[in-house]
Amino acid sequence: MLEKLKDALRARFGTAPDLDDAPRNVDVLAEMANRRVIRRYTDQPVDPALLDTLCAVALSAPSKSDLQQGDIVIVSDKGQREKLEALLPDNPWVKAAPVFLVFCGNNRRHRLLFDWRKRPFVNDYLDPFFNAAVDAGIVLATFIAAADRVGLGTCPISAIRNHAQQVSDILSLPDHVFPVAALGAGWPSFPGVMSPRLGLDVSIHRDRYDETGLEEKIAAYDKRREAVQPYRTQRYTDRFGASPEYGWSEDKARQYSVPERADFGAFVRRKGFKLD
Ligand SMILES: Cc1cc2nc3c(=O)[nH]c(=O)nc-3n(C[C@H](O)[C@H](O)[C@H](O)COP(=O)(O)O)c2cc1C
Repeated sequence: MLEKLKDALRARFGTAPDLDDAPRNVDVLAEMANRRVIRRYTDQPVDPALLDTLCAVALSAPSKSDLQQGDIVIVSDKGQREKLEALLPDNPWVKAAPVFLVFCGNNRRHRLLFDWRKRPFVNDYLDPFFNAAVDAGIVLATFIAAADRVGLGTCPISAIRNHAQQVSDILSLPDHVFPVAALGAGWPSFPGVMSPRLGLDVSIHRDRYDETGLEEKIAAYDKRREAVQPYRTQRYTDRFGASPEYGWSEDKARQYSVPERADFGAFVRRKGFKLD
């Protein structure tokens, strides 16, 4: 099993840590290292009680200052689903997902505690927004890990934030509650593809931040990734042409060559947050 873990890490990062002894639950680690996003599902429904259980497990994740600011909206009403799906034409796999959830940051409950006690909320800065967003992200990641363990496939959908105000209106999110990402889930009809990641020497730092040789390391990653998962299409060829060497770095530089969600800050301010 240790070799299975190391093989998965080598496939992901090009290298694996020099680990000699299998840690406890090495099989779980091997599964986690081999995780894939899943965008194709069978029609088999997901037991609502299992879904509630996974939400409960996800909400057992650590929470900043025990403030418990990550919430989950389970969207099962057909009309509600259709309204959200209509906002996501570029993510057609959402329609195919038996389960659709929206993970939200919730700083409202914290503020209500002050209202109810008629005390001023003196922390009206960027920090409460950031804390709630981080909590929601941790709950999302924990849900994904739990869903993977029972064999469900998931795909996060941050594209809902392209229409944050409409999503907020559809879901009746009050002030200080905001969508972070949605998640489609279901029983996989396809095993998915493992995405290689940047080398461990890029993302793990020792004692201090270090980007020695970063450009070369990213170029090496582009090549490693292209060998196993070449991009099938190139973005914005009208502006950038077709590149013979189209790797991750070129794809990301093209993807963000157009403004994305430039109005999200305005949405967050409308939700009542001060971002100073
Ligand atoms: C916060 C977050 C938001 C994401 N949003 C979308 C999305 O809107 N649409 C989509 O198809 N995939 C989305 N993804 C999935 C990523 O594209 C996917 O994780 C990435 O390509 C790497 O693939 P892997 O998860 O198989 O390693 C999102 C992932 C995360 C973590």
